[in-house]
Amino acid sequence: ADIPVIAIDGPSASGKGTVAALVAQALGFHYLDSGALYRLTALAAQKHAIALDDEAALAQLARNLKVRFDRNEIWLDDERVSDELRTEIIGNGASKVAALPAVRSALLERQHAFRLAPGLVTDGRDMGSVVFPDAAVKIFLTASAEERAQRRYKQLMEKGFSANLTNLLEELRERDARDAARSIAPLKQGADATLLETTHLTIDQAVASVLASYQARQ
Ligand code: C5P
Repeated sequence: ADIPVIAIDGPSASGKGTVAALVAQALGFHYLDSGALYRLTALAAQKHAIALDDEAALAQLARNLKVRFDRNEIWLDDERVSDELRTEIIGNGASKVAALPAVRSALLERQHAFRLAPGLVTDGRDMGSVVFPDAAVKIFLTASAEERAQRRYKQLMEKGFSANLTNLLEELRERDARDAARSIAPLKQGADATLLETTHLTIDQAVASVLASYQARQ
């Protein structure tokens, strides 16, 4: 538990993943995209035709996921799934399986295993509140829904997916509402988390702000 953790939580498409990965790179720390674990569970469920409300089957699936994280790629059962994972269908499915307590507890130990020297930067919804409550730095990174829809739109375009901005905004709002309303590990800023509002910040400015918080800890 001496290994420092920087926990960055926030809503979908806030840019927290990009910022977290860059902070990890700057410090030479490990990086965990916890949302990917929920997305992988949703994708595996789709592949195995498991219903997104079959809690016991989904928890077993989550516990036994055969995944590999490379620098920029994610593999499920030896298949490269990085791009497919980012689609809105899988994002929405992830948000559904993430509301199930048995799935969350199945993924808890997998997440703790990423805490390796010299340190970990991680992003998600409950990194600071539930998974790493003793994190050295806790950030709640957000941006307006319109800005987040724009960012997701750009990201999908760059990956060659087609997308519709209006639909994206609607789906983001729906997903935020579900993530915030659930009884277990809801999306919200913890009392001990620092708010980082990025609507008018560049990525570099957001990264610098997180690094400054880390340097200023204790
Ligand atoms: O961050 P990302 O959009 O990839 O996460 C996908 C979904 O996984 C979220 O909408 C949320 O429901 C769920 N999630 C979660 N807890 C985390 C990370 C993601 O519930 N720590």
